[in-house]
Amino acid sequence: MLEALNSQLNKELYSAYLYLAMSAHSTRIGLKGFANWFLVQYQEEQTHAMKIYDYINDQGGQVKLAAIEQPPTEFESPQEMFEKTLEHERFITRSINELVDLAIAEKDHATNIFLQWFVTEQIEEEGNDNEIISKLKLVGEGEGGGNGLLMLDKELAARVFTPPAPRGG
Ligand code: FEO
Repeated sequence: MLEALNSQLNKELYSAYLYLAMSAHSTRIGLKGFANWFLVQYQEEQTHAMKIYDYINDQGGQVKLAAIEQPPTEFESPQEMFEKTLEHERFITRSINELVDLAIAEKDHATNIFLQWFVTEQIEEEGNDNEIISKLKLVGEGEGGGNGLLMLDKELAARVFTPPAPRGG
């Protein structure tokens, strides 16, 4: 179980890194709102990683930090970034589900309860990504797509990072 949690810790850190790359790309192409949205996502992923980090420490386990894979640096379009985001979050959801399966198989009730927060979080994350992809499709199909994109950029600029409660929040 510990090995699987350390592996998930690495995946969450990679998620943070991936969204930071997307934030940088958004800034570079002049979409400040998208850059903000991905920067908030980067911060959220860091809190996910730290939740696992704290949990391993609380259980008296050994945190093992592995190398973080390099994320892509180029993206074709805002839509491609969100499609990659959704694809990545689906991968994370599968990974969390496998952790839950393992916790149940090992009768590790504490870890199973700990992981439930992540199960719920993944529903929200995939939901957010799906919503933005739908909007991007509407913008792409409509006339004057540029205006729609700028409006969406303004909407994404409003996202604010809210730090979670210190423990178990
Ligand atoms: Fe940490 Fe985006 O799941």
